[in-house]
Amino acid sequence: MKGTFPTDKFRELRTPFYYYDTKVLRDTLDCIRKETAKYENYAVHYAVKANANPKVLTIIRESGLGVDCVSGGEIRAAIKAGFPASKIVYAGVGKADWEIELGLEYSIFCFNVESIPELEVINELAAAKGKVANVAFRINPNVGAHTHANITTGLAENKFGISMEDMERVIEIAQGLKNVNFVGLHFHIGSQILDMGDFVALCNRINELQDKLEARRIRVEHINVGGGLGIDYTHPNRQPIPDFKSYFETYDNCLKLRSYQTLHFELGRAVVGQCGSLIAKVLYVKQGTNKQFAILDAGMTDLIRPALYQAYHKIENITSDETPETYDVVGPICESSDVFGKAVDLNKVKRGDLIALRSAGAYGEIMASGYNCRELPQGYTSDELV
Ligand code: LLP
Repeated sequence: MKGTFPTDKFRELRTPFYYYDTKVLRDTLDCIRKETAKYENYAVHYAVKANANPKVLTIIRESGLGVDCVSGGEIRAAIKAGFPASKIVYAGVGKADWEIELGLEYSIFCFNVESIPELEVINELAAAKGKVANVAFRINPNVGAHTHANITTGLAENKFGISMEDMERVIEIAQGLKNVNFVGLHFHIGSQILDMGDFVALCNRINELQDKLEARRIRVEHINVGGGLGIDYTHPNRQPIPDFKSYFETYDNCLKLRSYQTLHFELGRAVVGQCGSLIAKVLYVKQGTNKQFAILDAGMTDLIRPALYQAYHKIENITSDETPETYDVVGPICESSDVFGKAVDLNKVKRGDLIALRSAGAYGEIMASGYNCRELPQGYTSDELV
């Protein structure tokens, strides 16, 4: 089944562009609200890194989620979209001084700290402003995830977080510093995870760590398990809303949350992935040796995921009903990896047809680049195109 798109409206727009179906986005947000309401102390933060389009951010803010930021720029984007600073968490292995200062000025909810030197700098900068910064430690749980190597983050070999062995020492250091307030632990094992067993493994690890801390009478108010819930790239229409029910149930069943603790989530892809498509125009159909190419006006500069992670995005010709033929779908960039899909069956393609690259709402527009001096793609919502 093909997606439904306002193709007449699309004809008026300059391609390539991102299209966000706000009904899918709002339905997804409603589902998150409904599923988390079952539990008393679950707080979901949207991971801005997945998509910082201001119109998308506004809809997410209206739904009441908090945000997870990884740079000063994202903090600014979140504040601009109206998210309260009290719902901002800020992570990242390399926070620059100005970024920490920005977080301090806004009195954001929490810095997710990834090293001792960073903790010391936050303490110093907070002292200079006469503030006390809430900090959580990002612990590297050494838990693998069944996902692409480039988006696995929770293994000891990855650059992220503080090792489990150092956890207690770091908490003790924090307790001795005047301008930081230790409030929680933070984890994130990877992205595009569909096997709930990976989250179970994370829960088990957190349970062990919590027991250790409890034995030493260290109180942890907030547990943040990061994000990572994947989406169905193969069938975007069959399951446009990810299985949030199972996801939250997994944590409810497996994580031994203390009564006074709040459980935080940082979901990116699962919130925005399925609402977005990259819409491109066919420039040429070229006959190659033993194959034909559909050459689009969108390339890896607009959607880098296939080139960078060999990611699959469903491709549809949304302006043709003719009998399908097989194409390699490629972009115009001067790189051999500028390929969206090989041997793809598409309704017969001709110059001028519109092509949708589905499930591109997350890590699409935001990862676009100006390579080859190309313009960045615009993003439109379905609300604007009625
Ligand atoms: N929290 C932390 C600490 C993270 O590092 C990430 C993603 C998230 C939350 C959100 O993860 P999500 O729920 O979206 O899986 N560009 C790659 C994905 C990189 C993910 C980086 N960290 C891609 O296009 O697949």
